[in-house]
Amino acid sequence: MPSPRTRVVVIGASVAVVVSAVIVVLSVSTSTGGPGATAPGEPLRDLAAQVGLRIGTAVDTDLLGAEPQYDEIAASQFSTVTPENVMKWEVVEPQRGEYDYSAADELVAFAQEHDQLVRGHTLVWTNQLPAWLTDAAASLSADELRGILEEHVTNQVAHFKGDVWQWDVVNEPIDDDGSYVRNIWYTALGPDYIADAFRWAHEADPEALLFLNDYGIEYGGPKTDAMLDLATRLRADGVPIDGVGFETHLDIAFGKPDLLAAMTRFTEAGFDVAVTEADVRATLPVSEEQQDLQAELYASSLRACLQLERCLSYTVWGFDDQYSWIPGWFPGQGAAGIYDEFMPKPQYTALQRELEDAIGSMPTRREPSAHLG
Ligand code: XIL
Repeated sequence: MPSPRTRVVVIGASVAVVVSAVIVVLSVSTSTGGPGATAPGEPLRDLAAQVGLRIGTAVDTDLLGAEPQYDEIAASQFSTVTPENVMKWEVVEPQRGEYDYSAADELVAFAQEHDQLVRGHTLVWTNQLPAWLTDAAASLSADELRGILEEHVTNQVAHFKGDVWQWDVVNEPIDDDGSYVRNIWYTALGPDYIADAFRWAHEADPEALLFLNDYGIEYGGPKTDAMLDLATRLRADGVPIDGVGFETHLDIAFGKPDLLAAMTRFTEAGFDVAVTEADVRATLPVSEEQQDLQAELYASSLRACLQLERCLSYTVWGFDDQYSWIPGWFPGQGAAGIYDEFMPKPQYTALQRELEDAIGSMPTRREPSAHLG
């Protein structure tokens, strides 16, 4: 029998153990991510896994490793990642024939470490081209420009072979009125640059899913019609196209699109679809009522994706308002994300609830990892 004094010491020691255990637990939960880690309920990726949906975020690689809460949320809440900028031409081929994949490689490593898939964004676009290319474009022959494009697409897809699940092969090729965007590619090569890019990408990585990606096709209308036409013609010509990405940059001023109707036109035509860049902006400051509307637009866009077996992934274009592209591109607007200062907003909760509701009531989906070689 321990003496009363030893018993006090023993009890004191176990109290100390308990107290220090509590301190350890508290410090672990703050050091591994604070609010992100303690968002109530199950993480989005765990819920989405139960209905076979991949849920993703765009990642700003400058923040990786620099802001622990950013890493923690990106890793724990999402099962796919998209590089926000570092797979774009100006970053990966800043000088002709000189490739720099270092930042994108870091993101691929992050994804692999956290059991995430990668959406590659993007091979061919109008914007974020390097100066050596835009400066020279007008004086290059069509053949030379086509050669540059082939070399770029092939080099980039080969570099990431086996590591990229879906590629946005051609980004934003259609204008609001349904005509082709008159960028350097279209001007020199006509619409064939699109088919060529898909063929080259497929040759370099036959397993990757190949997408067209665009904004404003959520609402129906001439742009949606033109996109469906384009995808259908490509497929009819034997071009290896798998799907169409709906960027889904929404603004509460434009109301709620019938995304389910728009996406269904593509799935019925035999294409996969994905929500690739969701955010919902509003004019600042945002009232509570407007925030509710933002949450509803998030929820309804996710619901549309959940209702379609062929909607493979739902990606938000960054998760935290602090780092959103919106204030820089749409002056006076913002609050477009699902977190602010690493705290989940009602927009986050709306997505979480939508996933919870879907579990048990949704059709069996394809297992996305089956697409990886
Ligand atoms: C945006 C990035 O978020 C910004 O950081 C960058 O300055 C410009 O591009 N459609 C797209 C994305 O396909 O690549 C864009 O990303 C947003 C609109």
